[in-house]
Amino acid sequence: ALISLRQMLDHAAEHGYGVPAFNVNNLEQMRAIMQAAEATDSPVILQASAGARKYARPVFLKYLMNAAIEQYPDVPVCIHQDHGTHPDVCQRSIQLGMSSVMMDGSLMADGKTPASYEYNVDVTRQTVAFAHACGVSVEGEIGVLGSLETGQAGEEDGVGAEGILSHDQMLTSPDEAARFVADTHVDALAIAIGTSHGAYKFSRKPTGDVLRIDRIKEIHARIPNTHLVMHGSSSVPQEWLQIINQYGGQIPETYGVPLEEIVEGIKHGVRKVNIDTDLRLASTGAVRKFLAENPSEFDPRKFLKASMEAMADICTIRYEAFGSAGMG
Ligand code: G3H
Ligand code: 13P
Ligand code: NA
Ligand code: ZN
Repeated sequence: ALISLRQMLDHAAEHGYGVPAFNVNNLEQMRAIMQAAEATDSPVILQASAGARKYARPVFLKYLMNAAIEQYPDVPVCIHQDHGTHPDVCQRSIQLGMSSVMMDGSLMADGKTPASYEYNVDVTRQTVAFAHACGVSVEGEIGVLGSLETGQAGEEDGVGAEGILSHDQMLTSPDEAARFVADTHVDALAIAIGTSHGAYKFSRKPTGDVLRIDRIKEIHARIPNTHLVMHGSSSVPQEWLQIINQYGGQIPETYGVPLEEIVEGIKHGVRKVNIDTDLRLASTGAVRKFLAENPSEFDPRKFLKASMEAMADICTIRYEAFGSAGMG
C-alpha cells in the first residue's frame, strides 16, 4: 500500500526504528528491495533521483513503482523523489504519483553551488505549500553534504557541491535546523554530519571526528519532533569490495558508514536512511563473480538473478539492523 512519508516516519518515531530509503533505477533493484521487504515484513521508501529519471525515463519509473505496490500489496511503501533541485521538479514528481518529495535547497538549481539560508527557505516553503495541498510529504535539507576529511562532496556525476567546502557548511547547526523547520514546516529534515554520496566517504574506518553522530544527538535534542534523514548512508561492505576486486574490478581502499553508527543515529531521531551505493556494489560484485565462474553463460537473467539476490541480502540486513523488520 502507498503511504506518505509523514505517515511512515511518524510510525517509525513512535516505535523507535529507522526506514531504509533505497534508490531505484530498474526492475532488478525494485524486485530485490520489495522481495526482502516482504520477507522481513518491513515498510520501505523507494526513491528515484534525477539520474534514475534520465536512465529509466519517468513513465517507466512510474509504472515500476506502481507495479511494486500491486505485486507486494502487504508492504507499506512510500514513493519518494530524491534530491529535487527546484520546486518545478517536485511538482512534476507529484504529477507522476509520488507520495513524497525532497526539495534540496541546500544547493542552487544547478545542484552544485551551495545556496543561502534565505534561498533554501524560499524554495522549500513553495514546495511545502503545493505538496501539502496534495497530501504529499516534503523532505528538506539544511547543511551541505561533504567529507570532513577532504571538504569534497564525493559524487562525481550526480548531485553534490562543487569545490572545497568549509567545516561550517558541512555540519548542520542545531539552531539553524530549528529555525529552518519553523520557517518551512518540512515533514523530514536531511542533515549534514560528515557523510557524502558514493563509495569514497572515508579513507579509513571513520572515527568520531569525521562522522559526527554527536551532532545528530544535539540536533535531535533541539528539535525532538522532527524526523531526521541521513544521506550518504551506505556502509560500503568490505566483503563486496573484495569480491569486485577478486573478479577483475579495480576499486581502491575505501570505507562507508558502519551499521552500528547508523543504529546509534536511529536512537537519536534518524528515521530515513538513504542507501544507493551498497546496492550498486553488491550488484556489480555478484555479476562479476557470476560471469567469471560461468564463462559460457549469456542469458542476462542468470547474472541479473545473482545480482538481485545479492541486493536482496543487503536489504534484509538493513531492514533488520534499523529495526523496520516486523513493522510492516
Ligand atoms: O543522491 C545520490 C544518489 O546516490 C543518486 O545517484 O544521481 O547517480 O542516480 P544518481
Ligand atoms: P549512498 O551513496 O551512501 O548510498 O547515499 C545515497 C543517498 O544519500 C541518496 O540520496
Ligand atoms: Na531524499
Ligand atoms: Zn542523498
